[in-house]
Amino acid sequence: MSRIRYGGDYNPEQWPEEVWAEDRVLMRRAGVNLVTVGVFSWAELEPREGEYEFAWLDRVLDGLHEAGVRVDLATATASPPPWLSARHPEMLPVTAEGVRLHPGSRQQYCPSSPVYREHAARLVRAIAERYGSHPALELWHVNNEYGCHVSHCYCDVSAEAFRRWLVRGYGTVEELNRAWGTAFWSQRYGGFEEVWPPRAAPTFRNPTQLIDFDRFSSDELLDLHRAEVAILREATPDVPITTNFMGFFKPTDYWRWAEHVDLVSNDSYPDPADPRSPALSAMSQDLMRSLAGGRPWLLMEQASSAVNWRAVNAPKRPGQMRAWSLQAVARGADGILFFQWRQSVAGAEKFHSGLVPHAGTDTRVWREVEALGAELAGLSDVVGEAPRARVAIVLDWDSWWALEQEATPASLLYPNLLFAWYRPFFDRSLLVDFARAGADLSAYDLVVVPAMHVASPAAIAALDAYVRQGGRLLVTFQTAILDPDLHVQPGGYLGALRETLGVRVEEFAPLAAPELPGAEPPVVALAGSGLDGSTATQWTEYVHVADAEAVAMFAEGDVAGWPALTRRTLGEGKAWYVATLPDEAGRDALVATLLAEAGIEVARGARPGREVLERAGRRFAIDHAACTVEVEPASRR
Ligand code: GLA
Repeated sequence: MSRIRYGGDYNPEQWPEEVWAEDRVLMRRAGVNLVTVGVFSWAELEPREGEYEFAWLDRVLDGLHEAGVRVDLATATASPPPWLSARHPEMLPVTAEGVRLHPGSRQQYCPSSPVYREHAARLVRAIAERYGSHPALELWHVNNEYGCHVSHCYCDVSAEAFRRWLVRGYGTVEELNRAWGTAFWSQRYGGFEEVWPPRAAPTFRNPTQLIDFDRFSSDELLDLHRAEVAILREATPDVPITTNFMGFFKPTDYWRWAEHVDLVSNDSYPDPADPRSPALSAMSQDLMRSLAGGRPWLLMEQASSAVNWRAVNAPKRPGQMRAWSLQAVARGADGILFFQWRQSVAGAEKFHSGLVPHAGTDTRVWREVEALGAELAGLSDVVGEAPRARVAIVLDWDSWWALEQEATPASLLYPNLLFAWYRPFFDRSLLVDFARAGADLSAYDLVVVPAMHVASPAAIAALDAYVRQGGRLLVTFQTAILDPDLHVQPGGYLGALRETLGVRVEEFAPLAAPELPGAEPPVVALAGSGLDGSTATQWTEYVHVADAEAVAMFAEGDVAGWPALTRRTLGEGKAWYVATLPDEAGRDALVATLLAEAGIEVARGARPGREVLERAGRRFAIDHAACTVEVEPASRR
């Protein structure tokens, strides 16, 4: 069935049954063909331990089926019922400061809790048995936004699970002592039983302990997901499985997760008041296509208008919901879904918009919902085929975790650096894939590696091979500083990439703002080919050129005369190194040079603020300021 999926989270348990009949009528009017049911229904489905009440959900699913609406059925494990923690308070999560989080909100479970795991598994089994062959079932929706509120738990149960994870990884405590560098500050462990999660401590915690706890926490949540997947696979081997990702979400390494879903899906809530939003959501959409291995994905949640969780919640502008939805379609989405179908009248999200607003259907939001449904129905021919990117940016969760630790040379924010380099491509309507560190890059004409702080030998070898095979590579400052144990390799930074790039870094010189109210961080002028008139921001450093050309220099301050941008030619390949974050104009100029070298042209009619994208024979021209989109056959260019 090839039609673009359209719909959203449907929570009928919040409404009397008379409303369900009206829901079905309105869903048909809007062209809704897929709804996500049951995400937060555990307490309704199992009101008392072991006693299931499925009759209401039977009626919901039967009704949807009759109305021709398919179901993305949730496993309902995202928010355990109060009775569970009342009986087993040890299943509640604990923060690094030792605060236990209580029911009355959602997601209050320790990911390692055997109590939670056992009860969740039983519920999933019961749901799979009851609905596995229901004709409305199209997709399983495992849990919801894993780690969204509780990504790391520091309780005693988690401590035990962390130790088991460490034993599996290190084997002996001597090996852990080596990797963690415990000779520093008298941290040497005599046995695994002495190790704790990195709970609140007097000052900086052990960096390798911290990153191992990040890795463990991502793995532990993934383990929950996999346990549910195993149950669903056994019951319904042919029903595809998803869990909703959250774009660039730090706690979960989605490269590892993507291997365990049949369909990648994403939740996306860009701020309508933020002019960067179209570029930020494009970046998240490009990540989803990349996680899906270049295949289509599903926009599982977005808002029809305002959310309710920012300090001030701007509504979407007229036309913006359509523009942002079609942007997702153009970047590979096979479905456009929302949180949620009907705006709640009670609970913590009553001010979050819905497809059916509080004010009813005589509203601009509803009219836009109906129009979008009709328009998507006419775009079915794009389904199944995703557009291809020629540019890739390397994205690495280890680097994210390490770069943003305490006690680093400067407080750099990894997603901001990714975005800084994504932006010049977005402004030219060029799709970007995100690539996993160590992946084969030969499909790309240009690869950018922003601040890949942690580099394994495999990650370095992949970059080196890419250049030697004729690729064009741009590596930025703070790449390959640490090995996966977070140790420095002495002899000048950049590790084995020194060979590829032909440079070595002697010393960092980040640009520090004086600690005075309102003080702006300094910038440093740049000079040299293409970068004259631009400035270096955030970072400078002392770089030695061994076997490369210095293309641009720092022109001011203590680093004046030191290289800021270098290039090494290796056969057909080129390896660039940039020792700073050039300002926007500088990044734009550098990307223009790299694109010209790579022979990549900008789509006709594209300019900053006007995206022009092609997918499966359709051309989407999106004017983000005007919130308008022209969709036409690609051949009419
Ligand atoms: C997330 C959740 C939804 C809802 C929305 C509100 O995406 O999955 O249940 O809370 O946020 O924006």
